[in-house]
Amino acid sequence: MSKVKKILLGVFVVLVATQFIHPAKNIAEGIQTNNVAAIFATPEDVKAILKTSCNDCHSNNTIYPWYNNIQPVAWWLDHHIDEAKHGLNFDEFASYSPRRQYHKLEETEEMLNENEMPLSSYTFIHRDAILSTEQKETLINWTKNIRRQMEATYSMDSLVRQKK
Ligand code: HEC
Repeated sequence: MSKVKKILLGVFVVLVATQFIHPAKNIAEGIQTNNVAAIFATPEDVKAILKTSCNDCHSNNTIYPWYNNIQPVAWWLDHHIDEAKHGLNFDEFASYSPRRQYHKLEETEEMLNENEMPLSSYTFIHRDAILSTEQKETLINWTKNIRRQMEATYSMDSLVRQKK
């Protein structure tokens, strides 16, 4: 067997073997009591947008595509979901400190204005997750309304770390 064939065979064997190893799935049972909607007014249209465009990465429940059954795709997706959830998890939002909540809402507005979210590697396949201008406005207004409500409840000092 030539060297190239041996290497190809080796790669093939490893690929086959890895098909049997899967990362734990991001699927939580039951109602997520710390969901953002539990503490902040979240209209149905906002919930629908979050569900279609954000929650596969920023919640405790991912609806997996068929290709998640193929390695190394499953690892790649798992890594993305981990990273996304670590930064912002709408299912854990109620457990954040007010300052963190306020900051994540600001970040959300920024990400939407800069068209950074949802990730383009996601919308490439999930075409329905692409946000229309109206949907983007709906989400941004939602974050602004919550922030205004928070500003009425907390002092600015407790919401924003002061730059000295
Ligand atoms: C395919 C997965 C995916 C989808 C879908 C997605 N995101 Fe993200 N998001 C990520 C990843 C990964 C990061 C962290 C890395 C980065 O900042 O690029 C992130 C980061 C963020 C952050 C910054 C969090 C921080 O660390 O402060 C915000 C805010 C955010 N996303 C909002 C959204 C919103 C709103 C939507 C829906 C409109 C969305 N994302 C859809 C994967 C995703």
